[in-house]
Amino acid sequence: MKQEVTTKKVFIRTLGCQMNVRDSEIVRGMLEERGYAFVDAPEHADIVMFNTCSVREHAEHRAISNLASIARKKPRRIFGLIGCVAQHRKEALFKTIPNLDFICGPSDIYDIPKILDKFQDTRNKIQINSKSQFINSETRPLEYVTPYYRESKTHAYVNITYGCDNFCSYCIVPFVRGREVSRPVGDIIREIQECVGRGVCEITLLGQNVNSYVFQARGIGQQATGFVNLLEIINDIEGLKSIGFITSHPKDVGVELFKAMRDLDKVKKELHLPLQSGSNRILKLMNRGYNIEKYKDLVYNYKKILLNARLTTDIIVGFPKETEEDFIETKKALQEIEFDSAYIFKYSPRPPAKSAEMPDDVSLEIKKKRNNELLDLQKRIWRIKL
Ligand code: SAH
Ligand code: SF4
Ligand code: F3S
Repeated sequence: MKQEVTTKKVFIRTLGCQMNVRDSEIVRGMLEERGYAFVDAPEHADIVMFNTCSVREHAEHRAISNLASIARKKPRRIFGLIGCVAQHRKEALFKTIPNLDFICGPSDIYDIPKILDKFQDTRNKIQINSKSQFINSETRPLEYVTPYYRESKTHAYVNITYGCDNFCSYCIVPFVRGREVSRPVGDIIREIQECVGRGVCEITLLGQNVNSYVFQARGIGQQATGFVNLLEIINDIEGLKSIGFITSHPKDVGVELFKAMRDLDKVKKELHLPLQSGSNRILKLMNRGYNIEKYKDLVYNYKKILLNARLTTDIIVGFPKETEEDFIETKKALQEIEFDSAYIFKYSPRPPAKSAEMPDDVSLEIKKKRNNELLDLQKRIWRIKL
């Protein structure tokens, strides 16, 4: 394929989760292959892209206002907003950031080289996020041939699923990343082998809910592969030393996974298992699909089978209708379970996620107070554990 070589300098700022980190690597790989150079400050760039996160309102606003202020100062550069905010806010972004030139949703990042070519030809604003509303296994290109670029020489993120089907009531991810699709086993293995061939010894498998990975093999004699089976296959890859994975969902993990974690020598003995709340009433309103009893049971088995291996979690405070009693349940859960680390988030409504239909009735003041209380509590637990 003939590629036009350019000397355009690109800057990408990556916000949000590891999926965005991986997406930015893919974008960089594709553009470097076409002769673009990457710089580490927006002042030195001809093209400035922000790869953005929508999961909380604050993060979204900050991304938009930071990009808007850079775009105001040097309007002659090319500005792109990509990732989850592009998918969420769509063409409205062109009004909010008048110097914005293109937007591109997270499922369309493979179009970015084409977008840049087209924009440089026509100078017309470009919006690519049309197909992402209907992303499913038919519309999502699964057999990506990615050019190789990774930030680290020894560690690599590897996607195993895209999107999410869980619709936790507070969460925008299913709306911006589409329906859950598992990547074919063969693609995952080939990608890991390539990484290992280039000196990588540690990988982290990525998915919004890795435990629901399922690959329906179509060939004769092949079987459906679930997450545990995928771990077994990856554990056999020669040269690979360490396998981690994020994120796990309590409704889909169990003893089978814990035993595999214990028995597979390369799999890291650590689990990130978001609890979100210790109150059954709130867990139900969150549509999480488990109660605190089931969660504690998982923890009991995890600690027993993996001999007190590392356990971390996410908690949301100030979900609609969260009373002091509900909050006390969450505190109790933290005290009892003794996580090694807990990320605490203040709830923010994210329409069209379902909970945004409920009044956001816990005041910011109380959210902050609960947030600080849990952070203090977690610090104390951590000190005792040391
Ligand atoms: N798929 C992963 C990651 C989801 S986003 C998972 O299920 O864990 C990471 C964390 O952000 C979530 O675990 C949750 O604690 C938090 N979060 C998501 N939506 C939120 C919202 N509307 N307000 C506050 N925190 C939120
Ligand atoms: Fe969001 Fe729930 Fe899916 Fe995680 S599992 S991405 S919290 S909907
Ligand atoms: Fe944020 Fe999108 Fe990840 S909303 S948490 S960057 S999937």
